Amino acid sequence: MIRAEGLTRRFNGNLAVDNVTLEVRRGEVFGFLGPNGAGKTTTVRILTGLIAPTAGEAWINGHQLGVDDQAVRASVGLLTEAPGLYPRLTASENLGVYAGLHGIADPQGQVKKYLTLLELWERRDEPVGGFSKGMQQKLAIARALLHEPPVLFLDEPTSGLDPEAARVVRDFVETLRGQGRTIFVCTHNLDEADRLCDRVAVIRRRLIRVDTPANLRRGLYGRSVRVRLRAVSPGLRAAVEALPFVRGVTPIEGGLRVALDEPEAQNPELVRALLAAGGEIQYIEEEEHSLEQVYFDLMREAREAAQ
Ligand SMILES: Nc1ncnc2c1ncn2[C@@H]1O[C@H](COP(=O)(O)OP(=O)(O)O)[C@@H](O)[C@H]1O
Ligand SMILES: [Mg+2]
Repeated sequence: MIRAEGLTRRFNGNLAVDNVTLEVRRGEVFGFLGPNGAGKTTTVRILTGLIAPTAGEAWINGHQLGVDDQAVRASVGLLTEAPGLYPRLTASENLGVYAGLHGIADPQGQVKKYLTLLELWERRDEPVGGFSKGMQQKLAIARALLHEPPVLFLDEPTSGLDPEAARVVRDFVETLRGQGRTIFVCTHNLDEADRLCDRVAVIRRRLIRVDTPANLRRGLYGRSVRVRLRAVSPGLRAAVEALPFVRGVTPIEGGLRVALDEPEAQNPELVRALLAAGGEIQYIEEEEHSLEQVYFDLMREAREAAQ
């Protein structure tokens, strides 16, 4: 649904986006994760046809950027970082103004559809200045959807919102996900990327890594389980180390950390070996790395590589 090849953008000689190649599938919620200045907004502006890349090509819904720009723009909806609504206009007027500007077919029908979806139809004649921050942001997202684009770009949709408003917005994105729309969401909120996205790209001018949040967490470190034991003895540790599939054993508080490739297949044998060696197992669980830890490690690697 989105395909980019070698996208590069310089501003006065400064490289903002460097050779980004990626593909986003139809219906996917794709996270674009990176620190401030990483080139997220620049990439979105390129992919929505607002600015041209210095080099590279991209296709949105089969339409090539720079060739078929009108079709590209019809295929994308964009929530910018600071999406102003008119606070003194009503909900209905805000959407109506936009529908008018963009020549949307059946503006009244579309405005009603989205106000109903937002559960704002009853409040359509109230000025939006009186709505909660979360509701205003949802309205801004709905505005980006009025022309029913198959691809929705959300640039930092929850930044600057309090936790409650952010949650309202996240829930709304969850609602949209079920409708087959492709959603490209820029964020520097790791928790948000983890919860919302099918896949995440980590960017810092260049693409550093693209994968599912779960694989990102696992991939850097390999898989491991933590075994809590009533007591750890050198004999227990040796018994575990002797297992052919065990890649490493590290003592941890109250037990052992065991690196292995496939806990689902190998844990039963691990447990049998521990029991046979007299171990008293309290519990055993896969070790989870937070996306945050992975992210900071990736950023450190990228910095070191750049030096
Ligand atoms: N219009 C512009 N003119 C000059 N530099 C820009 C412009 N837009 C962005 N940049 C620079 O490009 C880099 C990436 O910015 P941006 O894409 O906004 O990052 P992000 O959205 O990830 O925070 C930054 O160094 C920024 O200063
Ligand atoms: Mg930005």
